[in-house]
Amino acid sequence: MTAGALTLGVLASGRGSNLQAILDEIASGRLHAAVSVVVSDVGDAFALERARRAGVPAVFVDPHGPGGKDGYERRLAAVLSGHGVALVALAGYMRICGPALLAAFPGRILNIHPSLLPAFPGLHVQRRAIENGARFSGCTVHFVDAGVDTGPIVAQAVVPVLDDDTEETLAARILRQEHRVYPHAIRLFAEGRLRLAGRRVLVDGTDPLADTAAIVNPALPA
Ligand code: GRF
Repeated sequence: MTAGALTLGVLASGRGSNLQAILDEIASGRLHAAVSVVVSDVGDAFALERARRAGVPAVFVDPHGPGGKDGYERRLAAVLSGHGVALVALAGYMRICGPALLAAFPGRILNIHPSLLPAFPGLHVQRRAIENGARFSGCTVHFVDAGVDTGPIVAQAVVPVLDDDTEETLAARILRQEHRVYPHAIRLFAEGRLRLAGRRVLVDGTDPLADTAAIVNPALPA
């Protein structure tokens, strides 16, 4: 771990491809951070195996232990704090954050969600985007608050929804962008460039997109 690097704790319930993208970005030197621990609520989550392969402590915290949800989150927060975590990144963590976890890391929990929030919070979002005829979908990195996918938005990437998309093809297209946008958002946090203004997140020192930037689907004639 290099001096001054942001210490990250990653919470994941599943395969952990976003965790891998973060680890890879750190390994390449493009993200000045270190993952000090990966925690899962699922004992055999592949995310834990990815952590072990990267030499990162991998910890299973049993959500069904004593004390209900509060007890679980207190144990979780203790593990994270014990590893010096400054920012918690939820990466496919399939539980709603409760008061104990939120209080332990106020304003210091990020999540990635596979839709263009505030459209389609919750589950089965790619299917719902297709069924609702959305022409675009994408992914959102946001701060976590007490709601379900409701916190202030840090960064988004947009992808088209194509006529022959299935839930799987759209999810794969979005996931490719998740792997770019999540490390990017964490980098902005690490560099101290995110400022909360009510429900908005203002980003210091980025090149603004052109006022005319737009993509249209179906495409305009050439
Ligand atoms: C991603 O689509 C993420 O947006 C959502 O859960 C999925 C996790 O995928 N929150 P992975 O475990 O990072 O591969």
